[in-house]
Amino acid sequence: MGCTVAIGSQWGDEGKAKMIDYLTEDADIVVRYQGGANAGHTVVVDDKKFVFHLIPSGILHEGKICVIGNGVVLDPVAFLEEVDLLEKKGYDVKDRLIISDSAHFILPYHKAMDSYLENFSNEKIGTTMRGIGPCYSDKCLRIGLRAGDIFDLNMLEKRAADTLRIKNLQLEKIFGGEPFTLEDIMSMLLLFKDKAGSMICNTQEYLHKAVKDRKKILLEGAQGYALDIDHGTYPYVTSSSPTIGGALLGTGLNAFDIDDVIGITKAYVTRVGEGPFPTEADEEQSERIRVNGNEFGATTGRPRRCGWFDIPLLKKAVQINGMNKLAITKLDVLTGFEKIKIGVGYNINGERVDEIPMSKCKHIEPIFIEMDGWGENISKCRSFAELPKNAQAYLNFIEDELNAPITYISVGPGRESTFITEKKQ
Ligand code: IMP
Repeated sequence: MGCTVAIGSQWGDEGKAKMIDYLTEDADIVVRYQGGANAGHTVVVDDKKFVFHLIPSGILHEGKICVIGNGVVLDPVAFLEEVDLLEKKGYDVKDRLIISDSAHFILPYHKAMDSYLENFSNEKIGTTMRGIGPCYSDKCLRIGLRAGDIFDLNMLEKRAADTLRIKNLQLEKIFGGEPFTLEDIMSMLLLFKDKAGSMICNTQEYLHKAVKDRKKILLEGAQGYALDIDHGTYPYVTSSSPTIGGALLGTGLNAFDIDDVIGITKAYVTRVGEGPFPTEADEEQSERIRVNGNEFGATTGRPRRCGWFDIPLLKKAVQINGMNKLAITKLDVLTGFEKIKIGVGYNINGERVDEIPMSKCKHIEPIFIEMDGWGENISKCRSFAELPKNAQAYLNFIEDELNAPITYISVGPGRESTFITEKKQ
């Protein structure tokens, strides 16, 4: 590994955290590059479950440096809570965690705006209500407040007052909401400065030096390719770029720094929130997958919608991101299904289409093939050869269709249940 990017290949929740935790073994530095506390990254170590929203999942490995990149939107309260929780569990965090001085703060008015906008609109996105869209909007409007701003309190206070004037007008006049006070915002930021100020630096420079020093860097995407603001199922997307472009933008690294792009994908598909989902299963099968796979949002607790592997969706993910390796997670969840469906194309107005029309796929009909399932418990398998023949056939089919090698397979929630597919070595 020189510089590797791990990207979710569906609508998020692909088991990225678990794979990041696994891949961190080989890395020196792990970097979150976009999104915010909308993410819920679950890692299980020695039967203990950790859920990360902001801190890179690599933090559980002693001695590894974790970076919150400039592309992340940082909720100071959620961040300090996460640090606190980790410290209480005995992890030394502060010396191994650095935050970009260009990361934007998510503040209470962003969360209020997220909620008002969701309730105002006829067509809901189903956001996580963590203030993500409003914070990225302020970034583009150039009225956002950034982590590095806390080092010039006079300037910060002036900027915060200006921004708050606009925000309070919007909240009060458009939505009839309560205004926020400058004192509340400033005291939140002062507390952040006090507790986390020493972690803030120019991470772009830090990462360029790390590349020069031949450190192994792992870039951790949040959400998934199909939630990308440009390439996803707009408007049912998040407000950042989980795709490869976002990895460069959110770290300051350049394209030539990247060696590998790993597409992390579940053996089936889920989606949380509103929006198109062509291969969504019927309620009975969706419920069966949901229960087997414990498919409930790690951030919001919402039940995830569940469905079948979607080849055209994944083909697009591979193409857009240049994925040269795939990691298939949660294969064990499909155990017990007599037949497993795979979406191979769509029917649009009576015509077969093999490409997914991302922003227009609300009313398309999936074309499925069916493969035989397997009944054997695969949670103890540690190589491709140990998998039942039907599971092997399922993976081989996916690999052939996507023309990208399945390099990692995961068959359970624990760290030990991920293995490299030996046939590829
Ligand atoms: P937002 O990112 O909170 O604005 O939500 C926009 C859309 O992205 C909603 O459909 C969310 O359910 C979805 N979303 C955001 N973060 C995640 C995630 O980490 N996993 C899965 N879906 C997500």
